[in-house]
Amino acid sequence: MANVDLELISLRPGPGLPAEKREEILRDPGFGRVFTDHMVSIRWSVDGGWHDAELIPYGPLTLDPATNFIHYGQSIFEGLKAYRHPDGGIYTFRPKANAARFQRSAARLAMPELPIELFIAAVEALVQQDAVWVPDDPEKSLYLRPFMFSTEVGLGVRPGNAYQFLLIASPSGAYFPRGVKPVSVWLSEEYVRAAPGGTGEAKCAGNYAASLIAQAEATANGCDQVVWLDAIERRWVEEMGGMNLYFVLGSGKSARLLTPSLTGTLLPGITRDSLLTLGGDIGLVTEEGRIDVQAWEAGCADGSITEVFACGTAAVITPVGSVKSRSGGWSVGAGETGPVTAALRHALLEVQTGRSEDVHGWLHRLV
Ligand SMILES: Cc1ncc(COP(=O)(O)O)c(C=O)c1O
Repeated sequence: MANVDLELISLRPGPGLPAEKREEILRDPGFGRVFTDHMVSIRWSVDGGWHDAELIPYGPLTLDPATNFIHYGQSIFEGLKAYRHPDGGIYTFRPKANAARFQRSAARLAMPELPIELFIAAVEALVQQDAVWVPDDPEKSLYLRPFMFSTEVGLGVRPGNAYQFLLIASPSGAYFPRGVKPVSVWLSEEYVRAAPGGTGEAKCAGNYAASLIAQAEATANGCDQVVWLDAIERRWVEEMGGMNLYFVLGSGKSARLLTPSLTGTLLPGITRDSLLTLGGDIGLVTEEGRIDVQAWEAGCADGSITEVFACGTAAVITPVGSVKSRSGGWSVGAGETGPVTAALRHALLEVQTGRSEDVHGWLHRLV
């Protein structure tokens, strides 16, 4: 499918923001507010395959109003981070896993699959060009956002005959501005995120649009985040907003980690997957299974569930402190960040920021 020479992301850089302005932004970048000086663009067409791979100044797109994806939603994305390490290098975490998930999302939405090497080449080209935008502070990172959409012009529900891949980057501080404080969650019993046979496993724009009403309901009920249940029985816990969930059963040396199985309706998180391994590294038994929402409440009441946390690239690991639903609510543990949550967060960030040995070969040097 690829007909691009992978060495050939043509570099057409622009001047970039003055250093003083950039440094001011990097002091308090927020999340997803400001973007670096450049972006990578790659096009695909039925006749030409992948072509016109180039690094260009960041800037607005001009789109025909009849561009297919605006109407019918063929649009997918990814999210990964680059960190500056103590050795002076800039690294990203498991980018091939993101590239592979991007391919699976594309396949589900009847879009062409970007070759993994081209995805990685795009990340390397952008981070090398905009390296000055990668914060020094280990609490901060450069968030990378690859995405792709149909550019065919014309109405009609069908797979587009042309696509554009773009990669943009945004310096990032904390995703949750309140810091690593336990979040309160709202159980969504009316709205579902994904149903069997649907697009829950894909990172497609429509999944997020469909989630907004439930997130608004969570906010209206005084909660920070929404928790999704399965579509059929509204009983099995799936995910929290844009993050996967973990349950800590028991405590001390006998603590076990349980995360909902990938049933086809959950986004297979790369952080989730990494924690299945890292949990084992720090001596925990890790398992995947089904978690009944009533068992969640009962486990918190009888103390068998000691901690619950959510995990994902953007916010890394976030404790869940309390749960609320139409019929009531309950607290999780002491409502504080528990010791297992804190230990896993520390262990993961130590690898991601280059402060502990990368025994699993998860890091990819970009600069
Ligand atoms: C719905 C959903 N679940 C889970 C995740 C966590 O995935 P990852 O750990 O790969 O960031 C994300 C973020 O990508 C998400 O959007």
